[in-house]
Amino acid sequence: MVDNKTREKIARLREEIHYHDYKYYIENNPEISDYEYDQLMRELKRLEERHPSLRSSNSPTQRVGGMPEEGFPTVEHSVPMLSLENAYSEEEVREFERRLHRELPGEDFQYVVERKIDGVSVSLVYEDGELQRGSTRGDGRRGDDITANLKTIHTIPLELRKKVRGRIEVRGEIYISRSGFQQLNKKREQKGESLFANPRNAAAGSLKLLDPRITSQRPLDGFVYALPYTVEVKIPSTQMECLEKLREWGFRVNPHFRLCKDIDEVLTYCRFWAKKREELDYEVDGMVIKVNNIDQQMRLGSTAKNPRWAIASKFQAKQATTVIRDIILQVGRTGALTPVAIFEPTPLAGTTITRATLHNEDEIRRKDIRIGDTAIIEKGGDIIPQVVKVIESKRSGAEKEFSIPKKCPVCGAKVIKLEDEAVSRCIGSSCPAQLKEKIAHYAQRTAMNMEGLGDKLIEQLVDNKIILDVSDLYKLDLFTLSSLERMGEKSAQNLLFEIKKSKSQPLSRLIFALGIRYVGAGGARILADNFFSLEALATASQGSLQEIPEIGPRTAQSTLLFFQEEKNRELLARLKKWGVRMEEEREEKRETSLTGKRFVFTGSLEHYTHQEAKDLVEKMGARVVSSVSQKTDYVVVGENAGSKYDKAKALRVKTITEEEFGELMK
Ligand code: IVH
Repeated sequence: MVDNKTREKIARLREEIHYHDYKYYIENNPEISDYEYDQLMRELKRLEERHPSLRSSNSPTQRVGGMPEEGFPTVEHSVPMLSLENAYSEEEVREFERRLHRELPGEDFQYVVERKIDGVSVSLVYEDGELQRGSTRGDGRRGDDITANLKTIHTIPLELRKKVRGRIEVRGEIYISRSGFQQLNKKREQKGESLFANPRNAAAGSLKLLDPRITSQRPLDGFVYALPYTVEVKIPSTQMECLEKLREWGFRVNPHFRLCKDIDEVLTYCRFWAKKREELDYEVDGMVIKVNNIDQQMRLGSTAKNPRWAIASKFQAKQATTVIRDIILQVGRTGALTPVAIFEPTPLAGTTITRATLHNEDEIRRKDIRIGDTAIIEKGGDIIPQVVKVIESKRSGAEKEFSIPKKCPVCGAKVIKLEDEAVSRCIGSSCPAQLKEKIAHYAQRTAMNMEGLGDKLIEQLVDNKIILDVSDLYKLDLFTLSSLERMGEKSAQNLLFEIKKSKSQPLSRLIFALGIRYVGAGGARILADNFFSLEALATASQGSLQEIPEIGPRTAQSTLLFFQEEKNRELLARLKKWGVRMEEEREEKRETSLTGKRFVFTGSLEHYTHQEAKDLVEKMGARVVSSVSQKTDYVVVGENAGSKYDKAKALRVKTITEEEFGELMK
């Protein structure tokens, strides 16, 4: 008889593992370290082994991975993409060797030891030397077809350097370097986008984008390490030869691997890299130890999840225990409120950790983090400190829960959280924490276009409290400006002229300049075309905003909230007082058979510049959009048309020549 306690324990473990599988595989956003995950899995396996009556085919011990993502076609892997069993100590590596000897008694083994790159594993299929398909691991048997995204990675060969007949499948790991990750996050921060927690998430997120053009701008790279499947090409007889062959064919193979004659040599090599891993510009979370001989590999075979011929020797996670003294709020330049934990200063892997971001309120709730808690911290992605979890048993009862306030701690404006966002934001347009960025946005060329108002100047104006919100720009005079550093009278005069000129910018630019979240230049134009005055827009209901086909619910909600905020209304009143234009002249649009239609241009046109073509289209009440989709009405095909033409054909969108376009516009 199994007691209820064990039964409950097993159920709880399964539920917990399912949850973490989902976070890891589906959301690419794991909450616990691999080590902690493996501990849960081991415990569950142990209990299931001890109580066979409680085994179940739905237990996470019985499956290979997660489910494939929606949005990409699913592909079947010709050889399942297994994962590696982890060893957390040298003893566990030695146990791996003993097991090999038990499986194949009397045989000798050599090992290839490679770095375990911490990225996203992918499979690439080549047919007669040409890249046919690239896919994610998915659940191990079926993954997502992400060929278009993988093709954007320059180190993935589209054609092999040697003519290889037949079909081969190679496996590798796609990653983003530490420096690439930092630059990417910096750019995202500047644009007010949410930040990736670590390079692995950044790589996974970038491979999952539906638009390969965005993927191509991400600093992705990769290494290949396995050749599990070939037809017509003779499989090499060792892993060393596989790596050599892959390199010859033009793949990027990690240069650091070693053939080891016994397990002591393996361990020495692992220790060497455990110490030096910090020196690499990409993250390595362990070493992979593989039996070199492929024939032995085949005879050893695999379990449902892992090959028996390889193991990952994981590096020690860099963890420490500390006390959370306080949780403070940081207001970012885009108004994002980030809770930050302040620690009892604690040494960890070479630096003293005093604080770590807690990301957002949901994260605090999920991990149940309270002020006064004792917590385990880790250098997430090896560089950024993270709170892994709090130790509940150390609670005294005096710990305090934390929640994000309703008002911004810096300016007192309302703090809001949009439905599908985890971040809370201060929406005060005069919040000093955001002011510099707001002014730069307001003044930029595509908004109010104030040439000469650069970052250095904005800094002086805000730091000296000359400007408290963007409307104060119109208050500037020659005396104030020319008293600033590096500001001569001539440039001050020019700037004042620019500022004055900006007052008559079209309404669409003013709407864009206000920096309403999700309202870009295009969105602002649509809003201006529909409401004609700022007053009308400011008093529009969510319904009337959402009626506009191009305006989605997120933009509608954020626009509504912006104008509801008292401080923003006050700002608009001040801008009005300074004479900033707030109305659009109503130009009756021609109702034509093309009203509302969408045009895409590809290739170069002989008789029109891009702008001329665009103006013509807009005059007819139609629009030019940049990419082809089901919603496109016409694709105008010029000289040397590119992939948009292929896409149009694939989606059966109507394509027309330049001449036909000319006819349509008459
Ligand atoms: S060999 C049968 N070699 O680690 C599994 N994997 O769970 C063959 N990885 O899914 C994997 N570097 O994504 C292998 N040098 C390397 C690797 C490596 C990273 C990843 C791979 C795999 C995971 C193990």
